[in-house]
Amino acid sequence: MTKPDLSVKIGPLNLKNPVMTASGTCGYGLELKKFCPPEELGAVITKGVSLTPWPGNQTPRMAESASGLINAIGLENMGVEAFVAKALPALKATGATVGANILGHSPEEYGALSKRLSLTDIDFLEVNVSCPNVACGGLAMGATPEGVAEVTAAVRENRGDKPFIIKLTPQTADIVAVALAAEREGATAVSLINTIPAMAVDLNRRRPVLANVTGGLSGPAVKPVALRQVWQCASNLKIPVVGLGGIFSARDALEFILVGATAVEIGTATLTDPAAPVKIIEGLRQWMLKEGLDDLDQLRGSLKI
Ligand SMILES: Cc1cc2nc3c(=O)[nH]c(=O)nc-3n(C[C@H](O)[C@H](O)[C@H](O)COP(=O)(O)O)c2cc1C
Repeated sequence: MTKPDLSVKIGPLNLKNPVMTASGTCGYGLELKKFCPPEELGAVITKGVSLTPWPGNQTPRMAESASGLINAIGLENMGVEAFVAKALPALKATGATVGANILGHSPEEYGALSKRLSLTDIDFLEVNVSCPNVACGGLAMGATPEGVAEVTAAVRENRGDKPFIIKLTPQTADIVAVALAAEREGATAVSLINTIPAMAVDLNRRRPVLANVTGGLSGPAVKPVALRQVWQCASNLKIPVVGLGGIFSARDALEFILVGATAVEIGTATLTDPAAPVKIIEGLRQWMLKEGLDDLDQLRGSLKI
């Protein structure tokens, strides 16, 4: 094993390093290829797919804010069948470890998606629970422990032998209670955070900037919120916690590992520098060499309170 050893384990998954792409910020993985070889990353997590194609929202769908980005893409995607037929084989051909991010309108839809993807060669599932449950009044399933438990159970029953990560929304009264519900129902790991509901307005036009009026805030502006919730979850869960939200540098990634994250995901940073994930991997290696660390276990969760 070459030193330092950057590899990490998430349940049965062995990743060569802890750096993954965050869903929705690198398409289906190949868009980054020129700048960021997918096979060099811990894993590529693809744009969320649903059972049928979703059209997404009207434009404008992006607004910049101080240290952040507000997006209202509306989870536009090609649908699972096109993903399995086209995007997945092309990405797997690069030798990348692939996590498929999934989204649905009900636990049944999450179950059906998990079953379909269990028959493919994806390496793991990431389950975005931030979608409204249409059958139950439109409340985001990720907002309550009960909602997360239902979706987690539906995925567990249908995912075959695929490991699965439940991706949590920060928009909840008690993040630890929600994360513990995922753990109790058999999730391999949790990842957090998804975007934070936000809006931008145009004073001159007296109109919202986004056609959808509201969107989700990401980028450096959300990092302190993400760090706090990752620390809370890592301190209370037995399963691995994957941290994300505003990670733009190796130092940011190391901070998440210090508070207990097993691995990290890079999202908005890739929109400003598509090589950000590989630069962060190299930055981790350099820092470990400088500090004399053989592996990341020597840093993980070592925050002194
Ligand atoms: C343009 C855009 C599209 C996104 N699409 C998805 C998605 O399809 N599924 C998902 O779970 N998260 C999606 N996200 C959320 C990110 O994966 C991530 O959780 C969030 O942006 C926080 O990380 P960051 O600050 O590093 O971007 C999206 C974010 C952005 C900016």
